[in-house]
Amino acid sequence: MSQQLSSPPTYRSEAVRVRVPASSANLGPGFDCFGLALTLHDVVEAQVQADGLALSVEGEGAHTVNRDGRHLVVRAMNECFAKLGGPPPGLRVACRNAIPHGRGMGSSSAAIVAGIVAARALCVDGEQRMDDVALLRLATELEGHPDNVAAAIAGGFTLAWTEADGPHLIRLEASPEVSPVVFVPSTELSTRKARGLLPRTVPHADAAANAGRAALLVEALTRNPELLLVATEDRLHQDYRGPAMPASLDLIQRLRADGVPATVSGAGPSVLALATRDTVEKVAGLAGEGWRVHRLSVDPLGATVLS
Ligand SMILES: Nc1ncnc2c1ncn2[C@@H]1O[C@H](COP(=O)(O)OP(=O)(O)O)[C@@H](O)[C@H]1O
Ligand SMILES: [Mg+2]
Repeated sequence: MSQQLSSPPTYRSEAVRVRVPASSANLGPGFDCFGLALTLHDVVEAQVQADGLALSVEGEGAHTVNRDGRHLVVRAMNECFAKLGGPPPGLRVACRNAIPHGRGMGSSSAAIVAGIVAARALCVDGEQRMDDVALLRLATELEGHPDNVAAAIAGGFTLAWTEADGPHLIRLEASPEVSPVVFVPSTELSTRKARGLLPRTVPHADAAANAGRAALLVEALTRNPELLLVATEDRLHQDYRGPAMPASLDLIQRLRADGVPATVSGAGPSVLALATRDTVEKVAGLAGEGWRVHRLSVDPLGATVLS
């Protein structure tokens, strides 16, 4: 390993294409821990070139994201190149984005994971220079917390946590019955802003209730979807953030009153409903005006190098 790192990396001349899923974090009680990968994908194509940066962006964020080295995919690629032993001379990056930005659907994690996985795939011995543990560590460092990046990397239903040696993840299989529906409003809410609304301390009873519900959610989401309504109850973050997204909290209340397990998706303002195969059509019709409705599946693959 140290031998390899002491020699500069060799980069492939062919393009690589990486597909990364959207993800929904928290799922109610599993604050900063649970992630669910969803079948809505960004695709990044990257190729080494003689010099400079050629960046193109289509789809979500095309009119808003930076077009230089501050672009999140490019930044993640450069951070990864530094860890691999040094950058290639120049880079062409083409992004095709389907994941909406600032909606709590893990767009920043998808961008970061796509960048790191693409940079690693461009390097001839990239997986020897950066293993999956180091990939999760770098992605978590750039994102600030591991829940969405875990789902974007591994797919499925993920649990993420941090120890002294860094972030860890476990991937579980969601029940095939579960059919996520995501309701996306037209307004954005940055994760940083949403985090600012959380209190410094919470009542012990609320913390205890969340711990129990989070444990129950592992059973409900993997094997026992009829427990999802009770298992998605949260007392630690959703209500505190309500003032920043009243329409989302209102929709969640309406869905839950109808027996549909619904939560804020990540830091919001999107709403995640964990419908089942039988209820998905009915659930998708419950939101009314002003919401873009995505009927999705749990993405089983996570970040994938396509070519
Ligand atoms: N595909 C992308 N390419 C470039 N930047 C991105 C991409 N996805 C997200 N970002 C950056 O991340 C920001 C959104 O991050 P965040 O507030 O965490 O919301 P989200 O819930 O969508 O992750 C965007 O405003 C943009 O700056
Ligand atoms: Mg984010």
